[in-house]
Amino acid sequence: MGNYFKQLSIALFFFLAIAATMVLGQGTRVGFYSSTCSRVESIVQSAVRSSFNSNPTIAPGLLRMHFHDCFVQGCDGSILIDGSNTEKTAGPNLLLRGYEVIDNAKTQLENACPGVVSCADIIALAARDAVVLAGGPGWAVPTGRRDGRVSLASDTSNLPGFTDSVDVQKQKFADKGLNTQDLVTLVGGHTIGTSACQFFRYRLYNFTSTGGADPSINSSFLPQLQSLCPANGDASRRVGLDNGSENRFDSSFFANLRDGRGILESDQMLWTDASTKTFVQRFLGIRGLLGLTFSAEFGKSMVKMSNIEVKTGTNGEIRKVCSAIN
Ligand SMILES: *[C@@H]1O[C@H](CO)[C@@H](O)[C@H](O)[C@H]1NC(C)=O
Ligand SMILES: *[C@@H]1O[C@H](CO)[C@@H](O)[C@H](O)[C@H]1NC(C)=O
Ligand SMILES: *[C@@H]1O[C@H](CO)[C@@H](O)[C@H](O)[C@H]1NC(C)=O
Repeated sequence: MGNYFKQLSIALFFFLAIAATMVLGQGTRVGFYSSTCSRVESIVQSAVRSSFNSNPTIAPGLLRMHFHDCFVQGCDGSILIDGSNTEKTAGPNLLLRGYEVIDNAKTQLENACPGVVSCADIIALAARDAVVLAGGPGWAVPTGRRDGRVSLASDTSNLPGFTDSVDVQKQKFADKGLNTQDLVTLVGGHTIGTSACQFFRYRLYNFTSTGGADPSINSSFLPQLQSLCPANGDASRRVGLDNGSENRFDSSFFANLRDGRGILESDQMLWTDASTKTFVQRFLGIRGLLGLTFSAEFGKSMVKMSNIEVKTGTNGEIRKVCSAIN
């Protein structure tokens, strides 16, 4: 009798553990392809590495692609679909880069294990590999996402924008199950990458009613920005988002925010707003606050983001080619 209850409780324990995993990970898990395509991680990694070796700026491109994929229709590869009025044709996605890296990995994966690995999983793995190559932390990427069949430019309005207030940024993240700490952590991905002058030049001239610059810009940094982005200069000129360390994945981005050296208005506002500032301070190790380690938290928030509205099981499909629905 005791034995019966013991077995029942063990069975119940495993049932609950599996149910909890499915709720938390929504059906994705680390090692999903271990028996069906055991080389998936090394194939994606080598595709990212060969691209990164010839052009390191592919790293922020792939990280941003994953983020833009997940916020629209969930992490389902919908960003990759070609055609008129698909997500990739929408304003916020026009400057995305790295599609060829995903296609290259997919071609190799179709040779190694045809019809098995989703394009959505390739993006999730490639984003992690890109961060590692840029000197950032690694983390275990749960896989098992399936590819979506819907990609509409009109769905991209829920992507966070560079003029969004902190409240709007928080709301857009909350709508995807991400909290204020996730917001600050994931924006910290701007430790790598650049922005064109066109997305922040309005802060440098005639920003205030009296014609001055955005007062949150550090006064010794402002003339540097103005000389890189003159009022009538080249709008496509690119400036590092993490001044002094734009190709290295580290936590100096948060020190730049503290010093008024953020580039995008939406980034700098994380220091102005009390609710987000406290997380920036915790990443900076300000005395009296419980410290947070950026490299550890980044992986955790990335895993959360990578599980947004994922399609698993029999939902969606495994695309044959990443740029087209089957
Ligand atoms: C600056 O902004 C004010 C108020 O919006 C406007 O009247 C003025 O023409 C602007 N000046 C320039 C140089 O753009
Ligand atoms: C940022 O830092 C570099 C030094 O690495 C400096 O040369 C550059 O002019 C700085 N300013 C801007 C706006 O990028
Ligand atoms: C402006 O930037 C310099 C150099 O990073 C820094 O030492 C200074 O504290 C900053 N000023 C403000 C007001 O943040």
